[in-house]
Amino acid sequence: MAHCVIFPPECIYWRKLEDHDQIKKVILPRIKELQKDKNNKNPFNLSNFTTNFANRSKFLDNEHVESIVWKTIHEMVTFMCEKISFDFTAESHIITDCWFNAYNVGEYQELHNHISAPIENNGKMYHPSFSLIYILNDESEKSSIAFRNFNAHRPFVKMLDSNIIDMSHFPTVKEGVVIAFPACLEHMVRPVTTNGRVTIAFNVFSDIK
Ligand SMILES: [Fe+2]
Repeated sequence: MAHCVIFPPECIYWRKLEDHDQIKKVILPRIKELQKDKNNKNPFNLSNFTTNFANRSKFLDNEHVESIVWKTIHEMVTFMCEKISFDFTAESHIITDCWFNAYNVGEYQELHNHISAPIENNGKMYHPSFSLIYILNDESEKSSIAFRNFNAHRPFVKMLDSNIIDMSHFPTVKEGVVIAFPACLEHMVRPVTTNGRVTIAFNVFSDIK
């Protein structure tokens, strides 16, 4: 009898929101209004963009969160279980952070991840699990997002091949798409090529079993 185990996958999952046009119509004007707030200080020294990361306010309705976050996570968990036999087991998830990022031509975000300490909520411990990026407004042809895995080399690729997954190689990654990925996965935004790019980011924690 043979056996095999795998490490948890650095899976990047994306889907086009069927209700993107309706969400954009409501949310983009709200974000444009919030962008004018002079308290929007960029807390990231090596990045150049506008964000309310340090000046949060609620700009999404529950129905938007349901579509953007919960439906996407449900699909991703199902995909991982059915297609790559990875069983992610958690009874519940909570959104701990939600913020917008706005970019004009040449603006960018440094390589980073969304890891932070576990938190207690209603007597349960929740750990960082998923992060999501919703591309709310982006006129560029190619995505500026790129991911890098932790390892110097990926398994089963040539030694000198890059450990970068560049989302510009995937034409389906564009406005209206939500990308979900493990919170620990390093990622960055390369200098963007069009003005007015707006994304919404989320951190999700789970009571991982
Ligand atoms: Fe990020």
